[in-house]
Amino acid sequence: MSEVWNNIYKSDSTFFGEEPSNFALLCINHMKTNNIQKVLELGAGHGRDTTFFASNGIEVQAVDYSIVTIELLDKITKEKRLPIKPRIFDVRRALPFPDGYFDAVYSHMLLNMRLSLDELHFIFSEISRVLKPKGLNFFSVRNQNDNSYGKGIEIDKGIYDINGFQIRFFTEKEIHDLVEAGGFEILWIKEEYEEPVTLYIVSSKKTLMYGLELLGIIIWPEL
Ligand SMILES: C[S@@+](CC[C@H](N)C(=O)[O-])C[C@H]1O[C@@H](n2cnc3c(N)ncnc32)[C@H](O)[C@@H]1O
Repeated sequence: MSEVWNNIYKSDSTFFGEEPSNFALLCINHMKTNNIQKVLELGAGHGRDTTFFASNGIEVQAVDYSIVTIELLDKITKEKRLPIKPRIFDVRRALPFPDGYFDAVYSHMLLNMRLSLDELHFIFSEISRVLKPKGLNFFSVRNQNDNSYGKGIEIDKGIYDINGFQIRFFTEKEIHDLVEAGGFEILWIKEEYEEPVTLYIVSSKKTLMYGLELLGIIIWPEL
């Protein structure tokens, strides 16, 4: 599937536009209020939100499995000298970062890609692992009020192929189940229309603690 995205970004290097998304504009306020300094962005695309966060002084590590878009983002990062580390990476694998490294994880319209429920649970466990205690996980996913819901062909349970895009449309309950099973509490969940899609936008906080954290022994690595 990364070939589909490679072709999209090859034909349009600013497919999602150059301005930050409404979701990023909302999240930056929460990042500032919570003194967030290190963010991991998953499925960053050509970086409309990544560059916005970095321009606001946030250190961002950005991953995407499309080599074309990561090369585009790498070029912009160097030209603008922004604090971004772009990396080609498929989020179905264990994240290449140490435990408890990030203040926040951010993803906009990634988790509604063709990912099975098992893969989504794994991704949430990895997000939790790389977050500091009480770290924030901001994400958006397309929902069942979306104009495209029910169109196309159902290729897997809950996933539709619509003109070559493979998309899961979430219910609010599915989000609660995933978030809570992953060891997070929902801070807020809202519906938002971002032309042409209808999304749930979510902020959640890590509540689960692991191993040494439980014993009060926490060592933060500096990368
Ligand atoms: C709907 S686009 C959103 C891009 C960006 N977040 C934005 O809003 O501008 C989804 C992005 O996720 C990436 N993606 C899809 N599946 C992925 C996976 N398994 N691992 C990493 N990236 C993935 C695609 O290459 C694409 O750039």
